Amino acid sequence: MFDLKILVTAALPYANGPLHLGHIRSTYLPADIYSRYQRLAGNECLYICATDEHGTPIVVGAEKAGKKPKEFTDEYHLKDKKEFTALGFQFDIFHRTTSEENRKLTQHFFARLKEGGHIYTKEVEQPFCEKCSRFLPDRFIVGTCPHCKSERQYSDYCDSCSNTIGSGQLVNPQCITCGSVPSYRKSQHYFFKLASFSDKLRAYLTGNRFLQREVVNYVVNWIDGGLQDWDISRDLSWGVPIPGEPDKVFYVWFDAPIGYISSTMALRPDWEDFWKGDSTIVHFIGKDIIYHHFLFWPAMLMGVGEDFRAPDKMAVRGYLNLEHRKFSKSRGWFVSLEDYLKEFPADYLRYYQTAFTPHNVQDADFIWKDFQSKINNELVASIGNFVHRTLVLTEKLNGNTVPAPNDLDSEDRRLLGEITSSKEKIASLIAEFQLKEGQEEILRLCGEFNRFLSLREPWKEKDKAKVLRTLYVSLRFVSSLSILLEPYLPFTAGKLQKMLSVPREKVAWKNADAELVAPGAPLPKPVPLFEKISDEKIKAQEGRLQKNDPALTKP
Ligand code: 2FM
Ligand code: ZN
Repeated sequence: MFDLKILVTAALPYANGPLHLGHIRSTYLPADIYSRYQRLAGNECLYICATDEHGTPIVVGAEKAGKKPKEFTDEYHLKDKKEFTALGFQFDIFHRTTSEENRKLTQHFFARLKEGGHIYTKEVEQPFCEKCSRFLPDRFIVGTCPHCKSERQYSDYCDSCSNTIGSGQLVNPQCITCGSVPSYRKSQHYFFKLASFSDKLRAYLTGNRFLQREVVNYVVNWIDGGLQDWDISRDLSWGVPIPGEPDKVFYVWFDAPIGYISSTMALRPDWEDFWKGDSTIVHFIGKDIIYHHFLFWPAMLMGVGEDFRAPDKMAVRGYLNLEHRKFSKSRGWFVSLEDYLKEFPADYLRYYQTAFTPHNVQDADFIWKDFQSKINNELVASIGNFVHRTLVLTEKLNGNTVPAPNDLDSEDRRLLGEITSSKEKIASLIAEFQLKEGQEEILRLCGEFNRFLSLREPWKEKDKAKVLRTLYVSLRFVSSLSILLEPYLPFTAGKLQKMLSVPREKVAWKNADAELVAPGAPLPKPVPLFEKISDEKIKAQEGRLQKNDPALTKP
């Protein structure tokens, strides 16, 4: 019944804070567009996601909120799920890395890697807080950044100057909870022999023509520079327990990607067909987690064996800035999804973000004025306007029913032919992750139809047969839009399908150029698809940010 099996994942969001606009652009939106298209094209495509609920970011966040980690992640899991749904992301499952399936599978991976000789133990010195009597992994230590002197930075990364901080380099290190200066204690840790996979990883990366060359090139440079073995254990109580080690858990980056598989297991008894069989595995990620997905993850899958395959495709995209500056919740330079969704439709964000997101690792900017002009000048003025003009003209000139023309002329046929060629072009663009270009093609086609309608001037035309042909061809494109737009703007496509009473079983990519609405069918009273965004609404958003603009608030 289906053509191909495709497994799509989007990087699992940490359940430790509100989602913001930056999370959407690089990962969840492109993965949703891609998987919606694959389903429309008749492929069996699963879109898998989950909350990433372990690790020190969660423990630190929970402590700050005065909650237990479980209670804390329960809350964000539900909040993320609600906001993702409001944006139209059609996950087949939105699971959790704290699930039983993930605990079992993580421990199974560990056992297999140990059996295969890919794990060894080593005593390492770890920072320890005498007062709190606990080890202080990763984000439990704060201090002054050695590069920019910014205070209260984590021990591994400076949020202010975006530099990584090497081990032992942080100035004035302190326990995040009590402020004590950490001492050091010996602890036995488990290491994954990442370096021993260097040759296999190089061959996998250079032999896979579906990976972005710019990414592969610098990952291969890392390999050539020599990989370090990877410490997969932490002296912590929150995480997947390491069997036989009561005070240790796996490092969050060990169990998180396993969450892709365990979530599929929770969804489908035939999960192995997707992970081991003749399927295509596609990961969508942001560029900050290339190392984990291009090195750790394929090496883990290679080491476990059992017919697990390394990912076939990985789509990597850059960061999003907000009005030329990094998103920062603590500094108030931030637009949460929740706040966005209170003011604007989901499809506007989908349209705008796709419009400036090419398939590369370049960073981009969310600019409120730009958002307004893209929506008003493209979405409303071109797509919305064409649909509305066509429906209003049909109401006026043909009693609000789909016309039945006797014949079509060559220009009519040329335009219908354009729909077919665009449908094919958009399909191959999406399949190659050129999502922005696919959306641009819809807009280009809309421009052609707008010109057609303006040149034909059916409102002035005396020849009734010509009027009917013009309306018929225009309505054919409106009904095509109800399918072509579905990957990009699912809410708008749904509205169009409803307006035209397109039966659900006909909503398939192959029908995007078909006659979806029969001549003679009645149409509902036309209502505009979109509303323009007013200057006031944009000024209000800019004003909220300006309050927090360091350039304005400096003494
Ligand atoms: O960087 C992050 O936000 C991680 N939570 C992504 C995990 S992706 C996957 F491997 F689980
Ligand atoms: Zn302490």
